[in-house]
Amino acid sequence: MKNIAVLVSGGGTNLQALIDAANNGEIINGKIACVISSRDNVYALQRAKNADIPAEVVSRKSFSSAEQFDEALLKCIKKYNADIIVMAGFLCIVGQNIIKEYPNKIINIHPSLIPSFCGDGFYGLKVHKAALDYGVKVSGATVHFVNEITDGGTIILQKAVEIQEGDTPEILQKRIMEQAEWKLLPKAVSLVCQDKVKVIGNRTIIEE
Ligand code: GRF
Repeated sequence: MKNIAVLVSGGGTNLQALIDAANNGEIINGKIACVISSRDNVYALQRAKNADIPAEVVSRKSFSSAEQFDEALLKCIKKYNADIIVMAGFLCIVGQNIIKEYPNKIINIHPSLIPSFCGDGFYGLKVHKAALDYGVKVSGATVHFVNEITDGGTIILQKAVEIQEGDTPEILQKRIMEQAEWKLLPKAVSLVCQDKVKVIGNRTIIEE
């Protein structure tokens, strides 16, 4: 059984999707061992508490450098013997030390079809605003491994979602969450927990 550390910074709807999937037996060979938040007082912490999952705060604000924050984060991840790290709306960059210790073991969800509308500065509603401003007809979500390039790691799963007349960034964000993110993330996590995702060069092969 793989221990999963879920990193959050906000409301935690993707965390909730993982908790629900775990409770329904949909995360095969994986268990959510802990939830770590980069911010105090976020609803994701309450979701962890409601599900009886240990929760910790490693606040970015309380460290003067990114290196010190990373060190504390790594220490917390190791305390729970995490095998897999899931960034579910985690708004901090994880540093080189963590990436080196967990090659192809850190998973992130991004609310667009990478390589569109991703990279530094593309988070939250900004992603959806950029998609609508560009005028694309489809957007979606991407689950990928994390490497040293923001949103640049190998893609595990993607799902397209149609843009509709009258969409605002808020409406599109909600549709992408409901139709793509909350399904895609638990699915990808389960596949990784089962060692079914092989990375070959710059692509993944899913062994069903
Ligand atoms: C999601 O849109 C996710 O794709 C992005 O941040 C948002 C987090 O939302 N990385 P939540 O905290 O899971 O509700």
